[in-house]
Amino acid sequence: TTRRKKIYEGKAKILYEGPEPGTLVQYFKDDATAFNGEKKAQLEGKGVINNRISEFVMTRLTQIGVQNHFIKRLSLREQLIREVEIIPLEVVCRNVVAGSMAKRFNLPEGQQLPRSIIEFYYKNDEMGDPMITEEHITAFNWATTQEIDDILAMTLRVNDFLCGMFAAVGITLVDFKIEFGRLFEGEFARVILADEISPDSCRLWDTQSGEKLDKDRFRRDLGDVIESYTEVAKRLGIMKDMP
Ligand code: C5P
Repeated sequence: TTRRKKIYEGKAKILYEGPEPGTLVQYFKDDATAFNGEKKAQLEGKGVINNRISEFVMTRLTQIGVQNHFIKRLSLREQLIREVEIIPLEVVCRNVVAGSMAKRFNLPEGQQLPRSIIEFYYKNDEMGDPMITEEHITAFNWATTQEIDDILAMTLRVNDFLCGMFAAVGITLVDFKIEFGRLFEGEFARVILADEISPDSCRLWDTQSGEKLDKDRFRRDLGDVIESYTEVAKRLGIMKDMP
């Protein structure tokens, strides 16, 4: 393999210079972190599974017209992506009460929300990703009003698509986090979906049993993390070539 120049290293992924201008290589690590990096572990094979699941989801989102950074998978742990300017927001969409929402409002996990709720967090590790409103986003120039509108519309489309995709294989999409970036075309910037969509960034519950099939297995020491991620991949019909 060729030596690539490292552009950025995050908690679960590394970005390298791509083969052509405007492209990057996204490498999926086995590292798992939770509670803003306080809890760490290596989960053997996680990167391979998340690379595949994210490829599967992004490819289908492209087919339904949700533009995203994914170009093609290069290897077990690498995918070629379009280089974007990341908008420093974590956009969370919730269908069912869980996690930080259950805590904040003292609600039982599992309560169906009357409608999907979108929340914004400022992507900043030192600050622990504080929750923000659209007012903060425009006041601090993190995104324009038009970009926020595009982000909201795309997030709802992603949610509708993912809810249906997972429901078809007996999985409830409880919530998920996505990120967006700006793709420059001359002087114009278009907002597209970036980062990844995987069991690291979604809450996925078996619809029948309620069993958690996502990163909460790691956060809450429930065990069988890789087995659960593999189960998600299997149900989606991917990684038939893996054990
Ligand atoms: O912790 P919280 O309930 O706010 O998380 C909501 C959703 O966003 C969960 O699916 C979680 O996995 C995801 N998330 C994430 N990265 C973060 C925070 C939350 O992927 N930094």
